Amino acid sequence: MIAALLSLLLVAAPAPAVAHAGCGGHELIVPRQMAAPTDVASQSQIKDPQQQCTPYQYPRIAAIQANYPTIWQTATIPAADTAARELFARINATVNEKLPNAGLKPAAGPPGLPNYDRSDPDCWWTWQGCSTPNPSLGIPADVVRIPEPNSLGMTVDDGPNCSQNAFYDFLREQNQKVSMYYIGSNVMIWPLQAMRGHQDGHEICVHTWSHQAMTSLTNEQVFAELYYTRQIIKDLMGFTSRCWRPPQGDVDNRVRLIAAGLNLTNILWIEDSNDWRANVAGSAVTPADVDRRYQGVIDQAKGGNYSTQGTILLSHQSTNYTMSTLMKWLPQLKAAFAHVVPVASGMNWTTPYAESNFTYPSFAQIIANQSASAPGSVSASGPSASVSIGGNNAAASGSVTGTASRSGAPSGSGAGSAASSSRAAGWRSSEVGTGGVVLAAVLAWAAL
Ligand SMILES: *[C@@H]1O[C@H](CO)[C@@H](O)[C@H](O)[C@H]1NC(C)=O
Ligand SMILES: *[C@@H]1O[C@H](CO)[C@@H](O)[C@H](O)[C@H]1NC(C)=O
Ligand SMILES: *[C@@H]1O[C@H](CO)[C@@H](O)[C@H](O)[C@H]1NC(C)=O
Ligand SMILES: *[C@@H]1O[C@H](CO)[C@@H](O)[C@H](O)[C@H]1NC(C)=O
Ligand SMILES: *[C@@H]1O[C@H](CO)[C@@H](O)[C@H](O)[C@H]1NC(C)=O
Ligand SMILES: *[C@@H]1O[C@H](CO)[C@@H](O)[C@H](O)[C@H]1NC(C)=O
Ligand SMILES: *[C@@H]1O[C@H](CO)[C@@H](O)[C@H](O)[C@H]1NC(C)=O
Ligand SMILES: *[C@@H]1O[C@H](CO)[C@@H](O)[C@H](O)[C@H]1NC(C)=O
Repeated sequence: MIAALLSLLLVAAPAPAVAHAGCGGHELIVPRQMAAPTDVASQSQIKDPQQQCTPYQYPRIAAIQANYPTIWQTATIPAADTAARELFARINATVNEKLPNAGLKPAAGPPGLPNYDRSDPDCWWTWQGCSTPNPSLGIPADVVRIPEPNSLGMTVDDGPNCSQNAFYDFLREQNQKVSMYYIGSNVMIWPLQAMRGHQDGHEICVHTWSHQAMTSLTNEQVFAELYYTRQIIKDLMGFTSRCWRPPQGDVDNRVRLIAAGLNLTNILWIEDSNDWRANVAGSAVTPADVDRRYQGVIDQAKGGNYSTQGTILLSHQSTNYTMSTLMKWLPQLKAAFAHVVPVASGMNWTTPYAESNFTYPSFAQIIANQSASAPGSVSASGPSASVSIGGNNAAASGSVTGTASRSGAPSGSGAGSAASSSRAAGWRSSEVGTGGVVLAAVLAWAAL
């Protein structure tokens, strides 16, 4: 009898904590076994980080996985994908015509290329922060700030993360939407976590397939790193991102041209929390350094440094530490800036994706929403509460969108030299950080 009851309990595994009530204490000896999540709602309920990171099968991914490159390896175009090959051939021809002498950069960054031409002919952001390519190339300037005064474009790289629920719950409680830059390989492994980001109303952009220094890859690899990340987002969530961010900001004109061939606008940053470099073996960056970076952004906002135009801040969701640290500082950022918004809203990109039926709040709309639910007055909101952002929102008509407003983006002249020197100095330890993420993900995938 007891054995039968026990096996029943194990089979009816989804039973959450409340189901234990009334079981007379016997439940204490029943091994805890939760069903694998099957949808965003069931995944979002899991609190235990370890359990969130238990690999699960998601049928929609299993069905298309064979059409994709191997996760966490440098992407190339699978032999059978003729549509991708044709598109790449066209883009490649454009690159070869416009930049006949474009070369690959070393993955080590500027230290690996000591003789790089000081005039920076490739507009290599990693070198000294160039974000405005020569207009003759016909590629949009990078977005490095949002123009709205006293405003912060809040950006979070490297998601989705298996154990992100506490972080996403917090963002929801704060009524805070951000721009998320998703790694294609992470989307493959953690599709429900990726879908939650969209359902929660965050802006979803491409952060490459395997998170490598893009200027060190061949044209085909750059194309495939972007194309298949864009494609898995489309296959899973139905929309085609038009924004991307290069790992470590490593971009030059060759990479920009390939991204532009995929209608992807490059989104960089001015302020770097440096969060991912703390608590990493071999890195000299400490949590106190990261706190100083966040405090520095707050001081600048309070001191009026952003009174004529806003900025963009880089943070990560790659570890418990990076997520917890942003959670710690977000309320103070919100107090220091007039507005903290995703980049799409900061740019009034109300149809940020290629599919025009996906709409996003304009700057005016999102700040009206935020002030209507000031901190403390936020009511409990379920996963469905964000539908007006992910969904078909008629209110967005009349706003400026599309390529025209993108190429009109402000030039990157504001990308300060202090930021660029810290980029160059941080290059080597940045390789360390990426390896940790890759290893964890490969382990998770191998367990599938
Ligand atoms: C793409 O261009 C490179 C030169 O930049 C060339 O080596 C390669 O063969 C081209 N690939 C295709 C498929 O056209
Ligand atoms: C880029 O956008 C244009 C205009 O919407 C569209 O015709 C084209 O197919 C897009 N290209 C890609 C590769 O998505
Ligand atoms: C404001 O910006 C100026 C120029 O970049 C800089 O010298 C100053 O330190 C900044 N203020 C703060 C509070 O960081
Ligand atoms: C997610 O975060 C955990 C820490 O909570 C970290 O150990 C793990 O590497 C991250 N996974 C991914 C895929 O980023
Ligand atoms: C960090 O880990 C602790 C302990 O597992 C957990 O309670 C907390 O929710 C995690 N924080 C984030 C942001 O994931
Ligand atoms: C966004 O729209 C508002 C009007 O609602 C306008 O004042 C602002 O300049 C626009 N911002 C951008 C970046 O276009
Ligand atoms: C703000 O947006 C959320 C969706 O993210 C929606 O549920 C809520 O009703 C909106 N609030 C206001 C006051 O517009
Ligand atoms: C947009 O249209 C596509 C194709 O008709 C549909 O699959 C998708 O659900 C629509 N999305 C929204 C948010 O309305």
